[in-house]
Amino acid sequence: MDTDKKPTPDILQVLQGKQTRRPPIWLMRQAGRYLPEYREIRSTAPSFLEFCYTPRLAVEATLQPIRRFGFDAAILFSDILVIPDALGQKVSFETGEGPRLNPIDSIQGIQALDANVSLDRLGPVYETIERVRAKLSDETALLGFCGAPWTVASYMIAGKGTPDQAPARLFAYKHPDIFEALIDIITEASIKYLIAQLKAGVDAVQIFDSWAGVLPAGEFESWCYKPVEKIVAEVRKAIPNAPIIAFPRGSGVHLPKIAKIEGLSGIGLDTSVDPAWASKEVQSILPVQGNLDPLALLAGGKRLDQSIDYIIKNLSQAPFIFNLGHGILPPTPIENVVQLIKRVKG
Ligand code: CP3
Repeated sequence: MDTDKKPTPDILQVLQGKQTRRPPIWLMRQAGRYLPEYREIRSTAPSFLEFCYTPRLAVEATLQPIRRFGFDAAILFSDILVIPDALGQKVSFETGEGPRLNPIDSIQGIQALDANVSLDRLGPVYETIERVRAKLSDETALLGFCGAPWTVASYMIAGKGTPDQAPARLFAYKHPDIFEALIDIITEASIKYLIAQLKAGVDAVQIFDSWAGVLPAGEFESWCYKPVEKIVAEVRKAIPNAPIIAFPRGSGVHLPKIAKIEGLSGIGLDTSVDPAWASKEVQSILPVQGNLDPLALLAGGKRLDQSIDYIIKNLSQAPFIFNLGHGILPPTPIENVVQLIKRVKG
């Protein structure tokens, strides 16, 4: 008998469809500006992308929230926009203003992308993964990630975040063939990138489709559903048991269909989804993750406890990972995060 068998982290058990004693917990954007220790090391790097590409700093940022809070998973410290950067599009982050890219507005812009050589630029990310995995305990899962093609494309076209990603929607209506070429390039790069992350040592990956909710049904099918279905199929072909979580923010009524994607292991619910509805319509198909309002966490107090309890009451009877419904907000008080973890861990 193999007595040296490593324990399987709770999050991976949930993604295998097993129920755990209490829901495991991690938070989207759990590393970052709400942590003073992050702000301190961030100030030592000349730019955010250089920070992401410096393994010493990225390893430290990945581990900071684990040390402080004991989350059940660490998430690789990086950004979804390293893919456009690796494809040769200029990406920068302006303090307080978010990402800035040279907008792509033509077929020439897409043809100029360097779909092949590119992923070498992400070498430091794989090194970060190896170094983090070596430092984490066997109980803590390490998550990798990428942005979904639609969300990444929406930044590549607009050159920045906008309230409703209108520039990319307009571009896709006017030039569907060119837009499809762009989606295909990002899809192929994302497949290679996720496979490389899994080979470097992440235990599971999450696909962030933060802007899935702004598209009408037909466009949702073409630009969100199909590319994510393809990524899942190809990653699984290369690494058969790879656990994959989709986070299609704002996709509402489409959730049950996404949950049926062959090879997907879990689905992230955003803040707007009622856990009572999701337990019947989504969790009956696939393990779910979510979905505390980041503003309830920021606010704290009794109302925070009530919000946590409502989610646990509805979702903890079946495989479930506690998380936020979107990323943690920079002004969130540390003590509210402590309050949340205590309540979930019981
Ligand atoms: O802790 C973690 O979750 C790991 C690291 C991580 C970051 N970004 C670090 C980051 C992850 C998983 C992301 C994902 C990401 N990046 C998404 C999808 C999730 C979501 O929030 O919707 C998106 C859309 C981006 C693109 C992006 N990166 C934006 C819009 C911004 C600026 C706004 C913001 O939230 O800061 C970033 C910058 C960014 N990414 C920071 C961090 C810690 C702040 C930059 C800094 O510290 O200087």
